[in-house]
Amino acid sequence: MTSAFWVLEGMDGCGKTTQAENLVAALEADGRQPLHLREPGSTGLGEGLRAMLLDKKRADWDPRSEALMFFAARNQLLRELVAPALAAGHDVVCERFTPSTLAYQGQTPELRQWVLELDRLVVAKQRPDCVFILDLAAEDSFARVGGDVGHDSFEARGVSFQQKVREGYLSYAQAFPQASKVIAVAQRSIEDIAQEILAVTQDRRS
Ligand code: TYD
Repeated sequence: MTSAFWVLEGMDGCGKTTQAENLVAALEADGRQPLHLREPGSTGLGEGLRAMLLDKKRADWDPRSEALMFFAARNQLLRELVAPALAAGHDVVCERFTPSTLAYQGQTPELRQWVLELDRLVVAKQRPDCVFILDLAAEDSFARVGGDVGHDSFEARGVSFQQKVREGYLSYAQAFPQASKVIAVAQRSIEDIAQEILAVTQDRRS
């Protein structure tokens, strides 16, 4: 079986980490050796940029500057970790990817084009096989991360910002229907959602 690149996406509090861990465990149970990554992070450069970007006390930056920082982290991740792992026959499971940049930094038509152009330049041939978008109402996301005391600079931006984030994710799924799957998560058990994700990964790998 060939290796595959899976991405877990969605708003803060949607359960990405739990589902990524489930998928990694299922792949391991299949005898595979998946690599579990997160964005921004997983490389020295990515973790350094992460600390700067998520600092709640930092100044407001232009979204283009933020997007460039996220794509710098993404470029490093792809070249240092993702490409070598796939080439060696390992699956990759990554929390967050370009859809996050579209959702958080691409909230106007002009910014959206900017993000898509960076994606074209940086991601090019290393596209995920499938992006799972764990979909949640903005109010639920906001409540799950503790209202206006969210723990990073993006979570602290309020419910109307989160509404745009959700729209950004759904627009990504519309733009790339072959390589994405929207999964409604409200009022569903972790196991139920995990089964839906696993069914897609098994379909695509067989
Ligand atoms: P993180 O703690 O990894 O997310 P979660 O709360 O889901 O565990 O925080 C990453 C933050 O960075 C999150 O608030 C979204 C934001 N972000 C962007 O704004 N753009 C991006 O391209 C990425 C990858 C993340």
